Amino acid sequence: MSAELVLSLKNIEKSFTGVRALKGVDFDLNRGEIHALVGENGAGKSTLVKALTGIVEKDSGEILYLGHYFNPRSPKQALEMGIGIVHQELNMMDHLTVAQNIFIGRESTTAGGWFLNEREQNRRTEELLKRLKMNIEPDVTLGSLTVGKQQMVEIAKAVSHDLRVLILDEPTAALTDNEISELFAIMRDLASQGVGMIYISHRMDEIGKITDRVTVLRDGEYVGTRTTSEVTKAEIINMMVGRTIYEAPKTTSNVAPDAPVVLKVDRLNAGRLVKNVSFELRRGEILGFAGLMGAGRTETARAVFGADQIQSGTIQIKGRPVLIRTPADAVAHGVGYLSEDRKRYGLALNLTVKENAVLATYEKFQKGLFVHAKRVESVTEEYVERLSIKTPSIDQILRNLSGGNQQKVVIAKWLIRNCDILIFDEPTRGIDVGAKSEIYSLMNELANQGKSIIMISSELPEVLRMSDRVLVMCEGRVTGQLDIADANQEEIMKYATMREQE
Ligand SMILES: Nc1ncnc2c1ncn2[C@@H]1O[C@H](COP(=O)(O)OP(=O)(O)OP(=O)(O)O)[C@@H](O)[C@H]1O
Ligand SMILES: [Mg+2]
Repeated sequence: MSAELVLSLKNIEKSFTGVRALKGVDFDLNRGEIHALVGENGAGKSTLVKALTGIVEKDSGEILYLGHYFNPRSPKQALEMGIGIVHQELNMMDHLTVAQNIFIGRESTTAGGWFLNEREQNRRTEELLKRLKMNIEPDVTLGSLTVGKQQMVEIAKAVSHDLRVLILDEPTAALTDNEISELFAIMRDLASQGVGMIYISHRMDEIGKITDRVTVLRDGEYVGTRTTSEVTKAEIINMMVGRTIYEAPKTTSNVAPDAPVVLKVDRLNAGRLVKNVSFELRRGEILGFAGLMGAGRTETARAVFGADQIQSGTIQIKGRPVLIRTPADAVAHGVGYLSEDRKRYGLALNLTVKENAVLATYEKFQKGLFVHAKRVESVTEEYVERLSIKTPSIDQILRNLSGGNQQKVVIAKWLIRNCDILIFDEPTRGIDVGAKSEIYSLMNELANQGKSIIMISSELPEVLRMSDRVLVMCEGRVTGQLDIADANQEEIMKYATMREQE
């Protein structure tokens, strides 16, 4: 089979102030090929595809596209030339409808007029979504959808153009297993039509499943390219991080049977997805929350944290009934929540790393009217070090950090707050394998120090590796609670799909 080259990037260089993000990177893409681009957080993946789509301007190097030199000035121009990108961060307007988001900038007009033809736009969107087998209504506002569904809309938007190259920058981080299979079906279909795809992901299993070749970047440098079918997961990880990482599931609980209950939630009802939820969390315990997306895990966490209103039920902390009406109440009772949707709830992108790090703890660093700047700096430095946050300095604006490193800053924020009860919602989403194992050991360390952790995770291997006990939810109800010694993927899935009518 002779492959037809669509795209060839040679010796791409890009520096930002203080950071050499790309140090002479090569990359090429064939017609109909799915080519993975992998590397640790901050390795330069997003920067490379941004240079290719005119979002950032490369310093040097060349791009050949369909045999011609190509120097895109804007993403719009790249798109017109047939190169589309779905970004790591959602990029759409919450208050607009699905159809409006898809057609933004190229709205259908009524014949001869300047007015938007809403109905036509909705009809075309409906057709598109149906063709892609996405179960989403064209006329609902984007903000009312789950993060996963919003991501699917963003993919639909890219695919609605006539593309030769589609770039997907971590498209699956927020998707359910079903949505991921839908996406893979769409990708295979596009590949068969000759569209080449650049696929960025931290999930090694996906890379084995869907890609033809893998290119690895490390610290802005090109490490190598392999044919997916001829390389093992361990080899790729080794190319990425320069060492071997071993992940073993937990087999027994680390919590003493008589450890005191620190959080007791009793028959909690909130919104549509929290129905009579009861559970206990012990000192030093890591309680895994498993379930399919939409099971009500995040909603339960938000209700306990005071982010959503509780309709009925009680919460006790360390044996005392407490009233939690707002996140501030929760924080005052020592409860921290690391949100799954960090862009919306967790971070201030225009502030610096150190400002974000102390966001939940500002009062601790105040002396009179002033802020104890030295202490803010030393504590931030400490956590940048402990979590290996890749940033040129703690004064860097958060927006300029790579996606994964932004997430580590949220984790730092709650660790600095020193909460006794921590709720981690999808803590390793978008985080590379090396940093993942750092976050795991950090969570174990916190539990050993007597902190109690609720870990919501959609990745079963992660649940099985970290939890002392697993609580499973389905459609808003707790359907099972398993000791880690009795938990396995099949058992968890059984409870995760245990619907009420059965
Ligand atoms: N606009 C910017 N200003 C300053 N530095 C930047 C900017 N954009 C990226 N960087 C830096 O360039 C490096 C590469 O970042 P990039 O976003 O390409 O990483 P990545 O491989 O996509 O990581 P992740 O897996 O975390 O998304 C990082 O050190 C990042 O902090
Ligand atoms: Mg990135």
